[in-house]
Amino acid sequence: MKVLIVGNGGREHALVWKIAQSPFVSRIYCTRGNAGINRVAEAVDIDPTDVERLARFAEEEGIDFTVVGPEAPLVKGVVDAFEKRGLMIFGPSREASRLEGSKAFAKRFMERHNIPTAEYATFEDPEEAKEYVKSKGAPIVVKADGLAAGKGSVVCTTQEEALRTVDRFMREGVLGESGKRVVIEEFLEGEEASYIVMVNGDTYVPLPTSQDHKRLLDGDRGPNTGGMGAYSPTPVIDEITERRIKKEIVERTLKGLKEEGIYFRGFLYVGLMITEEGPKVLEFNVRLGDPEAQPILMRIKNDFLKVLMDFYEGKRVYIEEDERWALDVVLASKGYPEKPEKGFEIHGIEEAESEEGVVIFHAGTALRNSKVITSGGRVLNVCAYGRTLKEAKERAYRAVSKIHFEGMRFRKDIGDKAFRYLS
Ligand code: AMP
Ligand code: GLY
Repeated sequence: MKVLIVGNGGREHALVWKIAQSPFVSRIYCTRGNAGINRVAEAVDIDPTDVERLARFAEEEGIDFTVVGPEAPLVKGVVDAFEKRGLMIFGPSREASRLEGSKAFAKRFMERHNIPTAEYATFEDPEEAKEYVKSKGAPIVVKADGLAAGKGSVVCTTQEEALRTVDRFMREGVLGESGKRVVIEEFLEGEEASYIVMVNGDTYVPLPTSQDHKRLLDGDRGPNTGGMGAYSPTPVIDEITERRIKKEIVERTLKGLKEEGIYFRGFLYVGLMITEEGPKVLEFNVRLGDPEAQPILMRIKNDFLKVLMDFYEGKRVYIEEDERWALDVVLASKGYPEKPEKGFEIHGIEEAESEEGVVIFHAGTALRNSKVITSGGRVLNVCAYGRTLKEAKERAYRAVSKIHFEGMRFRKDIGDKAFRYLS
């Protein structure tokens, strides 16, 4: 079978790595790729958001199954373009992707279906938004309505910061159209976690749990990023919490989608705050998380292509979870997330990869004169398995110590929040 992976970051490298292990795969393709992906997959030189061209390519090439990594092609309707041609593709339609593509839509949806989330209001007028901020005070969270690659949500600790953020998004247009409408919401206290399920209409199958580290710096300081590291499973989601997430969030979401006549097939990512009152939704994504997908896919033992295809066809599937832990440390470029500096040679990847239990997924890397160089904000995901979280962490950081490139940045505390729950 010929399989196409859309996207070209760390999550997509993990998808390529996992799916290439399936005995059903004869050829695997990836849009653009990177220095790691292109060792396994054939690079297709089409922009992932050029959805019509991509669908034409898949038809001409006889691609049997496509899996979409990032949100942008989904929101642009890549699934609709493929399905119009009768091609199998795993991901939600453009309509269903609004759960991620518009925060205002997602919040209204949650309100309609009684799904626990932070209190909020939506604004298209900056003066009204500022009045609201003044009436609520800080801390408060300002979110751009549209897609913003992890830069659209600002947790404001002071009223001044919130007012300034409203101006930056709505008046100065720093995020373009995405920030012209904003959602302003109550600050929730608690522990964050990611819960991702595969959905096909009425049915869903949970993937292993995980926890991301969204802030740039140790101790959850600095700006939000796409994610600086993750591990799986997370003890933050215990059995009781998981039952509540399923009942109060996932099942209400599926029921709500059905009532509204929206068919959802794909990954549904629930970004959660586990508060004292229980789990609440911070955001929905309509895809796997990056970097969460990397440790999650490492811990899925069965043939993931078969799981996806069977699930797509409506068959019952189960996920066989590896008992080991998996942890991912993201190595980023200087200047990430604002203005990453790129083009530096990366040393030590092979040495790091030869460490026990270590797997490396490339994100922003490219080849220049047969040398691997940095080509993006997030560069590499250094991942490791461990019988304990501690072992996974030690192995990952030992591997990290073998790698260097100019301006390399990473968090040193990935996984630390879990230790509180583990004794
Ligand atoms: P989002 O894009 O909505 O996932 O937000 C990005 C990050 O901002 C989340 O992962 C949280 O760390 C933080 N955040 C978002 N909304 C809230 C909230 N209501 N209360 C506290 N933190 C939040
Ligand atoms: N790691 C969070 C995300 O993929 O949006």
